[in-house]
Amino acid sequence: MESIHVVVLAAGKGTRMKSARPKVLHRLAGLPLIDHVLAVAAALRPQSTVVVIGHEAARVREALAGHAGLSFVVQEPQLGTGHALLTTEPLLAGASGTLVLLSGDVPLLTAETLQTLVDQHVATGAAATVVTAIVDDPRGYGRIVRSGEQIAHIVEEKDATPAEREIREINSGIYAFALPGLFDALRGIAAENAQHEYYLPDLIAIFRKQGRHVDTVTVTNVGEIQGINSRAELAASSRQARHEKAAALMAAGVTIEDPATAYIDRDVTVGADTIIHPNVSLEGSTHVGRGCEIHSGVRIVNSTIGDNVVVLNHCVITDSRVRDGASLGPFAHLRNAADVRNGAHIGNFVELKKTVFGAGSKAGHLAYLGDAVVGEKVNIGAGTITCNYDGEKKNQTTIEDGAFVGSDTQLVAPVTVGKGAYVGSGSTIREDVPAGALAVSAGKQRNIADWVKNRKKK
Ligand code: UD1
Ligand code: CA
Repeated sequence: MESIHVVVLAAGKGTRMKSARPKVLHRLAGLPLIDHVLAVAAALRPQSTVVVIGHEAARVREALAGHAGLSFVVQEPQLGTGHALLTTEPLLAGASGTLVLLSGDVPLLTAETLQTLVDQHVATGAAATVVTAIVDDPRGYGRIVRSGEQIAHIVEEKDATPAEREIREINSGIYAFALPGLFDALRGIAAENAQHEYYLPDLIAIFRKQGRHVDTVTVTNVGEIQGINSRAELAASSRQARHEKAAALMAAGVTIEDPATAYIDRDVTVGADTIIHPNVSLEGSTHVGRGCEIHSGVRIVNSTIGDNVVVLNHCVITDSRVRDGASLGPFAHLRNAADVRNGAHIGNFVELKKTVFGAGSKAGHLAYLGDAVVGEKVNIGAGTITCNYDGEKKNQTTIEDGAFVGSDTQLVAPVTVGKGAYVGSGSTIREDVPAGALAVSAGKQRNIADWVKNRKKK
């Protein structure tokens, strides 16, 4: 098999985004645009992957620090896509095989299309193979000009004649090139055009003049090759990605009541027979089990939800775990390694932070449990809070199996409520409660007879 080298262009400013953030770092379905491109490139198992950076180079490089095996070249100044590819010559000179050129701003390309591109390119022995599409609205794209069946050249919108602008076959900006002779041909590109840039698509005319074969692969799913140059295009492609993710989940047995408002990131998994109500966001590396019901307004980020879990409206769950058969909400907040065990119940306006909440335990209303370990079958009354922060550090609260904490209790950590112990309502617990004991810290109640009547007289 011939070797494959990938180059991703990401040096441009992205002027039309009107953003301080480099264009390729804008997020689609939870990931920067360029992460989508690198993921699809990785499916080719290339021998090398070079990213061309320039505008805000340091920031882009830093954002890609988590990707193994990338090389970077800095294109400075940015004189166009042809010039961008030329800057990779020191890394690729002498390489043989196929160079696959991807744009950092075309995020929805599929691995299948890329494989078709490479296979066809190698099979035809072409000097270049261009991925094209026939679109309803070709504005903004380079147009594919053919003579007969054969591609003759590509003309950019700004340089096109009115007749050429009518052409609806567009350049996706994705190509395969035969490496031998590529950089010599690139040096033949001139910047004599409306934008005074070195256009990579001009290579097509150069190869044709040399009598070399140039081929095309035309995709039918136009959304796949949609380039992102503006916020509106970002929104359109995001919608498309969402739509496809929802379709894949539904095909795998998930009920999604309104796919248009299901905001589910690419890497999220959801088990069969789970029901997702409108306006739910499942983000990052979130995994939801089977037979769950996720109600409207819920946002789950980087969290794992077991099977048969019910999450009522407007819960926010980040970096946490919820085990089988638990129920949450409405309006519960789980964060920072909260772990709700099997069959437990977390009710409305309850916040859990770095807390293990044992199987079968209940906190039905208005509580804050931070840095706590709560055992099994514990009852946490309304208005209970852990005072976990002493102004300097966080301290742990331990509530053992079967304990009953009355409403409006403050647990001043570090403190332990023993197995099966009871805490009377309105207590401030500063000392450990032994197993089986009742702790009461609120003062004795005093009633002043006729107080209201006497006050009125004054
Ligand atoms: C380009 C193509 C156009 C095609 C379209 C598809 C050119 C001249 N035109 O236009 O035919 O229809 O993509 O989406 O290639 N970049 C650099 N260095 C530069 C300039 C750009 O790295 O000097 C990078 C950008 O960061 C971007 C990519 O190249 O990731 C494409 O550049 P962009 O300016 O978006 O090109 P388009 O005008 O969309
Ligand atoms: Ca573009």
